[in-house]
Amino acid sequence: MTLTAKSVARVALVSSLVAATAAAAVIAASPAMGAASTLAAAAQQSGRYFGTAVAANKLGDSTYVGILNREFDMVTAENEMKMDATEPNQNQFSFGNGDRIVNHARNQGKRVRGHALAWHQQQPGWMQNMSGSALRNAMLNHITQVATYYRGKIYAWDVVNEAYADGSSGGRRDSNLQRTGNDWIEAAFRAARAADPNAKLCYNDYNTDNWSHAKTQGVYRMVQDFKSRGVPIDCVGFQAHFNSGNPVPSNYHTTLQNFASLGVDVQITELDIEGSGSSQAQQYQGVTQACLAVSRCTGITVWGIRDSDSWRASGTPLLFDNSGNKKAAYNSVLSALNSGTGGTDPTTTTTTTTTSNPGGGGCTATYSEGQKWNDRFNGQVTVSGTDNWVVTVTVSSPQRIIATWNTSATWESADVMTARPNGSGNTFGFTVMHGGNWSWPSLSCRVG
Ligand code: G3I
Repeated sequence: MTLTAKSVARVALVSSLVAATAAAAVIAASPAMGAASTLAAAAQQSGRYFGTAVAANKLGDSTYVGILNREFDMVTAENEMKMDATEPNQNQFSFGNGDRIVNHARNQGKRVRGHALAWHQQQPGWMQNMSGSALRNAMLNHITQVATYYRGKIYAWDVVNEAYADGSSGGRRDSNLQRTGNDWIEAAFRAARAADPNAKLCYNDYNTDNWSHAKTQGVYRMVQDFKSRGVPIDCVGFQAHFNSGNPVPSNYHTTLQNFASLGVDVQITELDIEGSGSSQAQQYQGVTQACLAVSRCTGITVWGIRDSDSWRASGTPLLFDNSGNKKAAYNSVLSALNSGTGGTDPTTTTTTTTTSNPGGGGCTATYSEGQKWNDRFNGQVTVSGTDNWVVTVTVSSPQRIIATWNTSATWESADVMTARPNGSGNTFGFTVMHGGNWSWPSLSCRVG
C-alpha cells in the first residue's frame, strides 16, 4: 500500500474516528432520540421483521413472554412443528404445542415462520426406518397435511431443512429422504405449494454463509436450477449459527446478495453468535448490516430469547442475558436497525461501471468492486485516456475512505477525495468504511 504523508495523517484521523464511532454504537446504552426502541419496531422501519424461536413450554414464564411480546414480530416454533412433533404416529397428527405457539403469536399480532416440513433429523420413529416410495409418499402426505392444517397462518415455511452435505463435496447429504431420489426436494416444494399457495416456501440450511464454501455453492446451484425450471421456491433461509470456529464470514453480504439476485427472498433464520461483550456485539452488528444492505433480505430471526433459552446456552449466544437484561449485542443490533436504510443493493463483484468526463477531458475512470467485509469494502479504479489524470471519488454518508493505495490522495471534504498518479500506474484502490451504506462511490475524471 502506498500512502502520502498527508493521506497517512488523514487515514489515521478517519480510522480513529471510525473506531470511536463503532465503539460508541456498540456500547450505546439506549437508542438515539426518535429511533425505534424495540427490535421489531426498528426492523419495521425498513419493511423487515425481527423474530425469535419460541418454545411452547416457556409460554408460562412471564419474563420470557414479556420480552417476546415486546421485542419480536415474527415467531418460529423451536421444535413443536417438526415432523416428530406433528406426526408422532403415521397419519395421526398432533398440533397442540404448535398451536400454542401459533395462537400466541397471532393473538399478539405477530407472524409465524413454519419450521420444518421435511428434514433428515427429528423424524418420528416410524419414519426413520422407511425407504423408497413408501417414505416418499409418507413425506408428501406429511407436508400436505401439516401445510394444509396451518394454511393461511404461516408467512414462510422451511419446506426442506439441511439437505446439503458439509465439507467439500457441494452435494446432497445422504439420508433416507435423499435415497428416495434426487427429486425429493422439488417434490416437497410442489406439495407445499399445493397445500398452502400463499405461504412463502424456503430452503433452510446452516454453514451456507461463506460464499466460497462448497456447500454454499451447492445450495446456490440448486436454487438457480429450481428458478430456471419453475420449481416453486420463494426464499432461502440462512441459519447463521456462529462461533469462534465458524465466525461470521467477511463475504457474508456477498452470499446474501448473490442468492437474492437469483430472484428469491433471503432470511436469516436461526441467528446466534457465541461470545460476549463488544466482540459479540460487533459480529451481531455486521450480520444485521449485511441483511439491511440486501433489499430482498426480509428479516432476521434469533434462535431463542435469553442465553439460558439457547440450544447452546454455555456459549451465551443471544441478545438477552439469563435474567432477561439487554446485552451489548442487543444494543448493537437495535442501533444497526435504526440506522439502516435498506435496499441499496450493490451488484456482484464482477460488475463494473464507467464514468466518462462529459466535458471531453480525455479520460475515463472505471470502478470495480473489490473485497467486502462486514464493516468495509474495497474499490478499485482504472483510468484510461491519459497518464496525467485527476479522479474525484465521492462517497455518501456515513461512508468514509480510510485507506488508499497506488495514488496520491487529497481530500476536498470528508466525502470527496481527489486522486492523482503517484508513479504506480493508472490503477488505484481504496477502502471504504461503509457504516451500513453499500452504495458505490461516484467518480469523475479530468486531465491534470
Ligand atoms: O423435551 C424433551 C424432554 O422432555 C426430555 O427430557 C429431554 C431429554 O432428551 O429432551 C427434550 O427434548 C429436546 C428438545 O430439544 C427440547 O429441549 C430434544 O432432546 C433435543 O434433541 C431438542 O433439540 C433441538 C434440536 O434442534 C433438535 O435437532 C433444539 O432444542 C433446537 O434448538 C434445535 O434447533 C435446530 C433447528 O431445528 C435446525 N437448525 C439447527 C438448530 C440447532 O440445532
